[in-house]
Amino acid sequence: MVKAIVVRENGGPDVLRYEDVAVGNPGPGEVRLRQTAIGVNFIDTYHRSGLYPVKRNDQGYFIPGMEGVGRVEAIGPDVTTLKIGDRVAYGTGPMGGYAEERLIPEAKVVKVPPALKDESVAGMMLRGLTVWYLVRALHQLKAGETVLFHAAAGGVGLMFCQWARHIGATVIGTVGSEDKAQAAQAAGCAHTILYKQVDWVAKVREITGGKGVPVVYDGVGKDTFMGSLDCLSPRGLLVSFGNASGPVEGLNLGVLASKGSLFVTRPTLAHYVSTPAELALASGELFDVVTKGAVKIDVGQSYGLAYAPHAHSDLESRATTGSTVLVV
Ligand SMILES: NC(=O)c1ccc[n+]([C@@H]2O[C@H](COP(=O)([O-])OP(=O)(O)OC[C@H]3O[C@@H](n4cnc5c(N)ncnc54)[C@H](OP(=O)(O)O)[C@@H]3O)[C@@H](O)[C@H]2O)c1
Repeated sequence: MVKAIVVRENGGPDVLRYEDVAVGNPGPGEVRLRQTAIGVNFIDTYHRSGLYPVKRNDQGYFIPGMEGVGRVEAIGPDVTTLKIGDRVAYGTGPMGGYAEERLIPEAKVVKVPPALKDESVAGMMLRGLTVWYLVRALHQLKAGETVLFHAAAGGVGLMFCQWARHIGATVIGTVGSEDKAQAAQAAGCAHTILYKQVDWVAKVREITGGKGVPVVYDGVGKDTFMGSLDCLSPRGLLVSFGNASGPVEGLNLGVLASKGSLFVTRPTLAHYVSTPAELALASGELFDVVTKGAVKIDVGQSYGLAYAPHAHSDLESRATTGSTVLVV
């Protein structure tokens, strides 16, 4: 038996229970991983609350967590690329990360460059692969382009700002506090806007000389969606990639016409990094920008595995900066 965080009923952070679970032996194409650090992402809160429904196992629970790092402890039949002792990481699931040990398909893990520390790796896989597809696949961010990114001091946000700076793009970032503004600026965000205090749509218009931006990246959702549309230049693209303030509902498509023949997409990482080849490409580019120092991983807070409820409540109450990890 190993320690894990299990969810039996949906609800607030207190439904995350620290219990003993059996892991079992790896099946065909699987390995058993002894984990050292586990990423805590906003999507874990959606799974816990029930916003994104999750199937329980036959004992009536699921283990959240889509991201982690550790060593291969056992290998199942037909595993060809890994051996016992390899240090590997994953950031596209499958779910089951909040545990000392877990089973995972060989196809979902990548070997980690030795220079990177475990906590950094746990804080960079899901968020870093997300930034990869936001700037390299969904939209090819270009030098000289100016874009708006909401929650610029968050886990995804701080990596986004640095990767965009590395490309030569200019980021306008919204943030919830002065401390977060400083963190975003240190990560290369050229203009920070305290969006709880000022008319942020007017501010974006002012910064861009009235033109608006060609792309808005919006992981905040409900509270910012309509304002984000108003920040776009004609034929601009709103990338609505998250629901930190709640899901976006009931869009009248005519609004996209009246506000400038706009485009909206609602992407998820799973559709941009789905095959082993895509994982190899995306994680290779991610490890490259991180190992050469262009993108530094800011693990703003770490907790013991048993303290996952605290990690969730801090993340949901906007008390975190950068990435959040659980250490084992
Ligand atoms: N679609 C995908 O493929 C994908 C992949 C990864 C992440 N995401 C999304 O990206 C977003 C960022 O993820 P993350 O894990 O890096 O989280 P995060 O940005 O570290 O935390 C969320 C931030 O959102 C802001 N926020 C604004 N209104 C909020 C509210 N009502 N409640 C809570 N937070 C609020 C807060 O920053 P301020 O205090 O600065 O406002 C908060 O710190 C999330 O929406 C997540 O679901 C999507």
